[in-house]
Amino acid sequence: MECLKEDGGFAGYPTHDSHLLFTLSAIQILAIYDSLDLIQEKTIQFILDLQKEEGSVAGDKYGETDTRFIYCAVSALSILGCLERLNTDRITEYLVKCQNFDGGFGSVINAESHAGQIFCAVGALKIMNNLHLVDCDRLGWWLSERQLDSGGLNGRPEKLPDVCYSWWVLSSLEMIDRVWIDLDKLSGFILRCQDENGGISDREGNMVDVFHTLFGVCGLSFCGYEGLLAVDPRYCLPLEVTRRLGL
Ligand code: FPP
Ligand code: ZN
Repeated sequence: MECLKEDGGFAGYPTHDSHLLFTLSAIQILAIYDSLDLIQEKTIQFILDLQKEEGSVAGDKYGETDTRFIYCAVSALSILGCLERLNTDRITEYLVKCQNFDGGFGSVINAESHAGQIFCAVGALKIMNNLHLVDCDRLGWWLSERQLDSGGLNGRPEKLPDVCYSWWVLSSLEMIDRVWIDLDKLSGFILRCQDENGGISDREGNMVDVFHTLFGVCGLSFCGYEGLLAVDPRYCLPLEVTRRLGL
């Protein structure tokens, strides 16, 4: 709560500025700890004020728009139980225009397809119950092409595999119900990225970090790895948390 700013948004650190990315992170963490009662109306208003006329959403007062910020607004307000206060019809129209000829989505209309942005578009459409408006077969094909011989997934054609795409790609495939990749090969890749202390890196031999550890664990959960809780592909939260919230 020390990261909550005057304007109702959260910052990444107490002395930093508020941003929608950190506001969603704060809400996700408070949801896990069953502490959403700490969120007040001014945080909801901070998020609502970032919606633009065209259906896109800005990340902060400086106004840059990106499909990531659409996801943050939709996910955060649905976790807070007030999604109906956003103009979801306008946002849906905008996201549909972001689907490219190859089936993927980019950061804005006509931007290159990128698996991270695809998660954001698919997650937001799924939460708004509007996934039927996009071509899921074409999208499923593009996402499945992300699996490389190592079993790992990349975020765009010709890129190296990276453990975080186990989340961005596989959660999207789950949401569109087209898991057309080899999960045994993927879990083998993720486990090869784990070091002797338990952390997971982006790819074999690199330094581990908490970001790739989270997405590696989520990927392993989707692969059915023993001992892990099920993850909700729409929210990147344990399914037991989203069920408790009635999502
Ligand atoms: C790759 O980024 C990832 C994205 C563009 C998606 C980011 C999504 C959010 C911030 C929404 C928050 C959602 C959750 C569930 C945590 P990158 O810059 O690493 O891409 P690169 O691999 O091309 O460098
Ligand atoms: Zn990564």
